[in-house]
Amino acid sequence: MHTILINGSPRAKGNTRLALDTMAVELEKQGISTEIIHIGKEALRGCIACNYCKTSPDHHCVFKDDILNEVADKLRKADGMIFGAPTYYAGIAGTMKCFMDRLFYTSSDYFRFKVASAVAVVRRTGGLDTLHQLQNFLALGETITPPSQYWMVGYGMDRGELEQDIEGMQTIKKNAKAFAWVLKATEAGKKNIPLPENEEHQFMNFIH
Ligand SMILES: Cc1cc2nc3c(=O)[nH]c(=O)nc-3n(C[C@H](O)[C@H](O)[C@H](O)COP(=O)(O)O)c2cc1C
Repeated sequence: MHTILINGSPRAKGNTRLALDTMAVELEKQGISTEIIHIGKEALRGCIACNYCKTSPDHHCVFKDDILNEVADKLRKADGMIFGAPTYYAGIAGTMKCFMDRLFYTSSDYFRFKVASAVAVVRRTGGLDTLHQLQNFLALGETITPPSQYWMVGYGMDRGELEQDIEGMQTIKKNAKAFAWVLKATEAGKKNIPLPENEEHQFMNFIH
């Protein structure tokens, strides 16, 4: 079983990375292989709502000059995925938001019933908003999100400060342990119990 962790911070070795490293260590202890991909400093455009991905081969994004399609392919193959983002102005840092919009618009159908988790880091205020925004992607991707004892928000400003947030670190570790359990449980369950039948999504706009 393989899990990919996405570092959405521009800082390669900041608090987001520390949160993801902490989770990766717990997963590896449970025999789950991991890979951390740093996307937060990439030049990534936002979604332009062209809908090219809806009909394109492999449902790839129209922009082929950045890493989105390559990372999306990896995530589609992975058993589990974890998304980490710093809080910028009480929300997901910009590059990560561009990444998430395009990733889930192109690849949601491939993520159905995969195990997925999210973690936000913050200096002081807005971490829960960031976490909520990340969780919105996971919910619409029909992923299974493991629990923890508290919301997945870690506190810190400068690199490594998150280490001093004892409760935050414990919450992150407990989520990783739950993640490993849910991954194994669903893997075993999927062999015996088929996934619920999927129905075509009936879109209904509010003006008609
Ligand atoms: C542009 C920018 C905006 C930020 N906005 C907030 C904010 O709204 N609330 C907050 O508490 N911290 C804010 N911060 C601080 C970061 O969330 C904090 O330093 C976090 O640990 C960064 O994560 P990283 O080390 O993974 O990059 C901001 C930092 C930057 C650079």
